Amino acid sequence: MALDIHALPINKKFNRRLIAPDTWIINPFNPNFGTPRPYVLIGDDCAALIDATHTTLPIREYIEKCVTDKPLVVLCTHSHLDHTNDNYLFEDCDIYMSEYAWNEIKARRDMDNKAGMWRFSDPACGDVEMTPEQRGTYTPKILKPGDTIDLGNRVIEVLPYVGCHSPGSLIFFDHKTGGLFTGDELETGQMLVMGQPGTKSCVEQLRENLQVLIDGWYDRITMVCPAHNGSPIHPQFLKDLAENCDRVLSGIEGDMDVRSMSFAADPDSMGGRARIWMEDPDILRSEWKGTSIVYNRTRLHKADIVGK
Ligand SMILES: [Fe+2]
Repeated sequence: MALDIHALPINKKFNRRLIAPDTWIINPFNPNFGTPRPYVLIGDDCAALIDATHTTLPIREYIEKCVTDKPLVVLCTHSHLDHTNDNYLFEDCDIYMSEYAWNEIKARRDMDNKAGMWRFSDPACGDVEMTPEQRGTYTPKILKPGDTIDLGNRVIEVLPYVGCHSPGSLIFFDHKTGGLFTGDELETGQMLVMGQPGTKSCVEQLRENLQVLIDGWYDRITMVCPAHNGSPIHPQFLKDLAENCDRVLSGIEGDMDVRSMSFAADPDSMGGRARIWMEDPDILRSEWKGTSIVYNRTRLHKADIVGK
C-alpha cells in the first residue's frame, strides 16, 4: 500500500539537521532534488526562517512543534515561488525581502487578479496551481545590502551582492556562526548566469560578486548554505567558483550537457527550460572543483547584456 505522507505524525513529515549551534536545515519528507530546503536560525528573542519554500506539508506546524518555540520572522532570498509560496502561512510574522522581489510578487498578484485564476508561470516552478489563500495578502518589510536584523544576540546582515540567479536576490550572513545563506545564488548544482534580459546575470558579474565576498568576508564565512543540491558547503567553494569564472572568461569552454542532478531528474522543471537549454548550442556548463556555471557563451560580460 502506498505511503500517505500526509497521514504521518508531524515529526515524520520532516526531519532536521543541525549545521551549527541553533542553526537547522529542514528536509521535507522525500523531497525531489529540486525542492529547496528552509533554514531556521534561532536567536534569544526570535528565530529566522530563511525561505518558507514550497511544500504541501505543514512547514510552520513542524517548526513550531519540533524546532523552536521562538516567534518567527521570515527572510526571503528571492521571489521565486519554490522559495516564497508558503509565505502565506506566516502572514502574522514579519516577512523580509528585497524591493525587487516584492515588485515581482506584486506583479504576480496583479496578473492573478486580472486573470481571475490562481495559476501562473513562475521562473522557478513553471505553471503553478494556487489557491486564493496561497496567493497571500502580506506586505513585506524591505531589505537591502548592509541592512541587519537582530534575532537577539544574533545579527543577520544582508551582504553586498548583485543578483545573478535572480535580480532580486539577497544573501544573508549570520554573524554568530559565520553561515552565509544564499538561496539560489552561490549554489553547487548550477549557477545560472546566462545574460537573461533585464538582468545583470553574467559570468563577469558573478566573478565581481565573488571578489567582494572573498576580499571583505572570506575570513568570517564558515559555511555557504544554498537551498538546493546540498548544504552546507565549505567556504573554499567561493574561491573555487571564482576560479571557474576565470576559466570561462579566459575562453575555456564548458560542456553542452547543462544538466545537474536536479535537471536530470526533472528536465521539465523551471517551465521546461532545462530541456531548452540542452538544445541551445550557446548555453554551456562549466564544472570545476565541484562548482558549476551554466552560461551563455555570447553573453559573458556585462557589456554583452546591456539593453538585451
Ligand atoms: Fe530561484
